[in-house]
Amino acid sequence: MKPNKVLYLAVTCSAIILVLNLSASGQAKVTKENFGKTSEGQNVDIYTLTNRRGAEVKITNYGGIITSLKVPDRKGKRDDIVLGFDNLDAYLKGSPYFGAIIGRYANRIAKGRFTLNGHQYTLAVNNGENHLHGGIKGFDKVVWTARPLKVPNGAALRLTYLSKDAEEGYPGNLSVRVIYTLTNANELKIEYWATTDKDTVINLTSHSYFNLAGQGIGDILNHQLLINARRFTATDAGSIPTGELKSVKGTPFDFTSAFRIGERINDDDQQLKFAKGYDHNFVLNGRMGTLRQAAVVYEPTSGRSMEIWTTEPGIQFYTGNFLDGTLTGKDGKVYQQRYGFCLETQHFPDSPNHPSFPTAVLRRGQQYHTITIHRFKTSSR
Ligand code: BGC
Repeated sequence: MKPNKVLYLAVTCSAIILVLNLSASGQAKVTKENFGKTSEGQNVDIYTLTNRRGAEVKITNYGGIITSLKVPDRKGKRDDIVLGFDNLDAYLKGSPYFGAIIGRYANRIAKGRFTLNGHQYTLAVNNGENHLHGGIKGFDKVVWTARPLKVPNGAALRLTYLSKDAEEGYPGNLSVRVIYTLTNANELKIEYWATTDKDTVINLTSHSYFNLAGQGIGDILNHQLLINARRFTATDAGSIPTGELKSVKGTPFDFTSAFRIGERINDDDQQLKFAKGYDHNFVLNGRMGTLRQAAVVYEPTSGRSMEIWTTEPGIQFYTGNFLDGTLTGKDGKVYQQRYGFCLETQHFPDSPNHPSFPTAVLRRGQQYHTITIHRFKTSSR
């Protein structure tokens, strides 16, 4: 081929590629709208993060809640894949932590008590005799300071909150920062930092209820789940760990290869009976502190899959056992039992009372930092 023909071909090809790129994308962006007021009159906003491929996440600074998340199915159709409400009032009335940031301590602390540096601390008790998800007014119910960030690879929102010494019974002024990034590769990255002026305990997570087929349209029992964990923390009837790291082998908790969530959920197994389904912390393989794959979920009708990567030592797998049709969510959808599943990356429940578990203590002068990434893909399987 003559050199000028090669040049012509190269120019034409690059022009086509450029046009394809432009048509498939816009610019990643963040927009802000008013979302109402809390009962104390604090203004609340809602931010929409859109990436270059048109995936979108909505986050309110009330509780740092992810209210909606739209990613494509195998045909490119974007559906909302998380449970939630259409307006702030519904969240204020009472939400089972839909999409919220959970803190200071995600999951349970037995009897709301723990000892640190020889001092016994008493926390708010809000789950039978136990402390759950940070107490009566946890991080899911406070107004965060929000600021959109300029990032090269997508759209990002920074949330900050100062939790005062003794809030819900916890020691230390805890300064918390969470950055949500919706990357152009269809990943939702959640990064958490915190510092304290007094030794304390901390365990932050994000509490989205997923249905990869689309929110509110059915149960999640046909999703296929893999969890990279050979053990889980066995619990008592009140969902408090007994201390045993139980092998998953030969039990309904073996997700080391993919299983339908519903396949063994009604098995005659004491651990499942205690929790009315799965509501357990899995001990992730690999070294905590390194970002590694924790779980993969695949939904066959839509072709959507979600990988979860984390630096955390554990992940709580919860199958929406306590949803019971009394909550009406977005678009008038009624949320029945098992209409959503949660995969909450975390330290183990009740770690402050289990010296053998990875420590959840944050010392004065140290920095807490964890990363979790939700990676969305599709497959034609
Ligand atoms: C817990 C469940 C609890 C739910 C509340 C989950 O993280 O493990 O026991 O009922 O949160 O919505």
